[in-house]
Amino acid sequence: MTSPTITTAAVSTPAITAAASSSSTITAAASGTWRLSGDLEINRVGFGAMRLPQRGPAFEADAVPRDRDQAIGVLRRAVELGVNHIDTAAFYFSPLRSANELINRALAPYPADLVITTKVGPGRDSSGRWLPHATPELLRGQVEENLRQLGRDHLDVVNLRVVGTDSIAERFGALADLRAAGLIRHLGISNVTPDHLAEARAIAPVVFVQNQYGIGVRPDHDAFVRACGEQGVAFVPFYAIAAAGRTAGATGTESAEVLAVARAHGVSAAQVRLAWTLHRGPHVLAIPGTGDPDHLAANVAAGALRLTEDEMAALDALHRRGV
Ligand SMILES: NC(=O)c1ccc[n+]([C@@H]2O[C@H](COP(=O)([O-])OP(=O)(O)OC[C@H]3O[C@@H](n4cnc5c(N)ncnc54)[C@H](OP(=O)(O)O)[C@@H]3O)[C@@H](O)[C@H]2O)c1
Repeated sequence: MTSPTITTAAVSTPAITAAASSSSTITAAASGTWRLSGDLEINRVGFGAMRLPQRGPAFEADAVPRDRDQAIGVLRRAVELGVNHIDTAAFYFSPLRSANELINRALAPYPADLVITTKVGPGRDSSGRWLPHATPELLRGQVEENLRQLGRDHLDVVNLRVVGTDSIAERFGALADLRAAGLIRHLGISNVTPDHLAEARAIAPVVFVQNQYGIGVRPDHDAFVRACGEQGVAFVPFYAIAAAGRTAGATGTESAEVLAVARAHGVSAAQVRLAWTLHRGPHVLAIPGTGDPDHLAANVAAGALRLTEDEMAALDALHRRGV
């Protein structure tokens, strides 16, 4: 398999320097674009759907369902603001809401340029309990479940979500077969190591690596983030805002370094966290999750934020110290 370099991916980053804290007119185009493949280009700031089915922490058995109209409004506003990459999964559900169903209700018939990425692997049963890794046969079932819920005949991108360090060859090979059969356009992998990426790329092209990463989160991951770019693979961090809060969400406490940069630009700490990830390389995308329309607009606007070399140096030093 050939190893395309970062130069094979078309990247454009308009120079917008305006403070991006509250403007709802800044669109996702301000973050620049990333070409996944010949036919597919997306804005670097996208949207993660994990927060939509509930208020508060994700995956809680007694989660409070999010207001349906609010969730649908956030999805429609995201697309109005130029978001054309939405990350979801069939296992993003609370007792009364499903992220995929909300996406279908809000956005179908889907805009032609919208890329919906979903994840398969260890799913949840209908009571919400996590299941072990899916077998190749079950992976096909999970792909079909996503097709039904989203109301599509093919999935734009499917990430194989991985738990542990075992070989992914059999499971990724099963998804490659579904890609060859036309059910999936592009493949990615999530929660993975560099060895997993090499293993997957020997089987089929990989467009995304989706791993946890952010300021102070996994500084030991920096080399892998760079390596993804060198191989022409987009790196898509999750929990870029939530950081140590993980499924519980943003913690509300913030370091002095992040707050100082936020003050200098008149933006929020969350926007600085997002902007820092986008500054890690043109192949780094963002999929911030929120059910709050104001936070959505702020996250899109963070794609227009340009940090100085000194600010990046201060944030990098904080990052290297870890959380
Ligand atoms: N592959 C995997 O294993 C995996 C794991 C986890 C997540 N993911 C994906 O990654 C996406 C991103 O993760 P995430 O949803 O945890 O996103 P995140 O953007 O890191 O953090 C979301 C948290 O930050 C808050 N928030 C968002 N925007 C904010 C803003 N502008 N100001 C203040 N607070 C803000 C949200 O609360 P509000 O709702 O109040 O805004 C929520 O508590 C998920 O939605 C999901 O699609 C993938």
